[in-house]
Amino acid sequence: MTGAAGKTGRAILSALRTRGLACLAWVRRPEQIEDALSRGAVEARVVDLSQPETFVSALVGADSVYHICPNMHPDEVVIASELLAAAARQGVERFVLHSVMHPQIEAMPHHWRKMRVEELLLSSGLTFSLIQPSAYLQNLLPYWRLARNRGNFELPFSVDAPISMVDLGDVAAAVAEVLTDPEHAFGTYPLAGRAQSHRDVAEIFSSVLGRPIEARRIPVDRWAESARAAGLTPGRVDDLISMFNHYDRHGFVGSPKVLESLLGRPVVGIDTWVRRLAQRDARAAE
Ligand SMILES: NC(=O)c1ccc[n+]([C@@H]2O[C@H](COP(=O)([O-])OP(=O)(O)OC[C@H]3O[C@@H](n4cnc5c(N)ncnc54)[C@H](OP(=O)(O)O)[C@@H]3O)[C@@H](O)[C@H]2O)c1
Repeated sequence: MTGAAGKTGRAILSALRTRGLACLAWVRRPEQIEDALSRGAVEARVVDLSQPETFVSALVGADSVYHICPNMHPDEVVIASELLAAAARQGVERFVLHSVMHPQIEAMPHHWRKMRVEELLLSSGLTFSLIQPSAYLQNLLPYWRLARNRGNFELPFSVDAPISMVDLGDVAAAVAEVLTDPEHAFGTYPLAGRAQSHRDVAEIFSSVLGRPIEARRIPVDRWAESARAAGLTPGRVDDLISMFNHYDRHGFVGSPKVLESLLGRPVVGIDTWVRRLAQRDARAAE
């Protein structure tokens, strides 16, 4: 598994352990090895994704690849192309790509890069599966903290845009299912929760916290200014602005049915996820 030390990788490592799947984790830094092993990786190797000449030897012992590219990486297509070549040389049985829901939206450049990667994979000759998650519920964490501390949170697109956010724990459990059963070879899996807006999210926060919480829209320029001041690269700021503009006009919606069929149960909704967060905060405060 590439990107194993990121939030996606850590969640999937834990899910693979519950299914007894042995995982060789690629991490960026030596200090991430211990955490990967503690989450169930049988081995962890430091691999720099900008050094493709190391890929073939780093794949020794792997019979499948689960590829998680670093989020919004400008070289995503080059990394994937080199990794696919290395996987083919190593004769891996299956290449599973952690993609994104609706990669075909060209107006969002980071989606379009995933679309090109999917295209490369489909023409690689390798056995593949495509995992296409919607935006994670876990992205709401900073909003939850703001809501708790000051009673509101701000976003640079319509508070009424419907978004089918998905719980990363559900995504990880679905990935474990896809990797466990060889019948998922050549499958494509868009993974979404139920569509709700950030106004709905504010209402849920409000009902869990027992006081009014407001979701406020701010101009995208104001958001960009603070993102640049916080150190985001110009490329990432541009990608995010494109995403906010798309969300503003169209929302980002999908059906939860594929995920529910993989899980064999309903998806975790925003209300359940927020209640769990509140319980976790309460335990931490004890
Ligand atoms: N966030 C969402 O809502 C969402 C939804 C759907 C799909 N996705 C996709 O999920 C994927 C993973 O997102 P994420 O937020 O979990 O990833 P992430 O944390 O940005 O990156 C994963 C890992 O890659 C490592 N990394 C960065 N540059 C590297 C390099 N040159 N060589 C080796 N490792 C490197 C990072 O190292 P450090 O720990 O040192 O930074 C991190 O541990 C992305 O492709 C994203 O598009 C995300």
